[in-house]
Amino acid sequence: TEGIVIAIDGPSGSGKSSTSRGVARVRNLRYLDTGAMYRAITWWMLSNDVNVNDAEAVASLVERPVIVMGTDPNAPTVTVDGRDVAAEIRERDVTTNVSAVSAVPETRERMVRSQREIIAKARAESAGIVVEGRDITTVVAPDATVKLFLTASAEARAQRRSKEVRTSDVAATQADLARRDELDSNRAHSPLRQTADATELDTTGLTLDEVVALVSKLA
Ligand code: C5P
Repeated sequence: TEGIVIAIDGPSGSGKSSTSRGVARVRNLRYLDTGAMYRAITWWMLSNDVNVNDAEAVASLVERPVIVMGTDPNAPTVTVDGRDVAAEIRERDVTTNVSAVSAVPETRERMVRSQREIIAKARAESAGIVVEGRDITTVVAPDATVKLFLTASAEARAQRRSKEVRTSDVAATQADLARRDELDSNRAHSPLRQTADATELDTTGLTLDEVVALVSKLA
């Protein structure tokens, strides 16, 4: 499995993160959560009182923070200017604003550049990598060894995400996911899009172990 790249896209709550981490563990590959990178830059913007709906302001500041991703699937890390922000980037404030920051072309240019560097480094070290996000199969790594598009019913996705963030308000979670999907799928710059050469996997009725086993077999 020298230098293998597994690219996984899909909407929020489709099981991308758990699946990607699981496959990376089983197959002894590195793991990159690109959503965490968009969340990290969003966290930095909010922490510095940048108006995230002002695309020009976001664009002019996007190169400022130093974002470092750790790619061990057993302990993935994300730091901004040396600070561990793993917990902060999951907070509601970041989740609400991440799609606006992600829609700015300069944000995407910076992130895609950095993601390609991380992939190239893994390959240079003969380690494979699982990369998950919204534009991995289309923009970041269109020549990936395995390309997957994960889906699940809106209800299943809302149930999973509610468990993750420990809320009983599944309806509110579902509305939040729908809003983010809408923004991520309709932005002008590299929207979430399913391509013909990506294998679609509907995870609705499947357990995590079943999905991991299926994807590992594909790889
Ligand atoms: O995967 P996660 O839900 O953590 O991603 C958070 C947000 O980051 C998404 O809603 C999307 O706006 C953005 N994102 C993106 N491109 C990626 C990964 C995430 O635009 N490759």
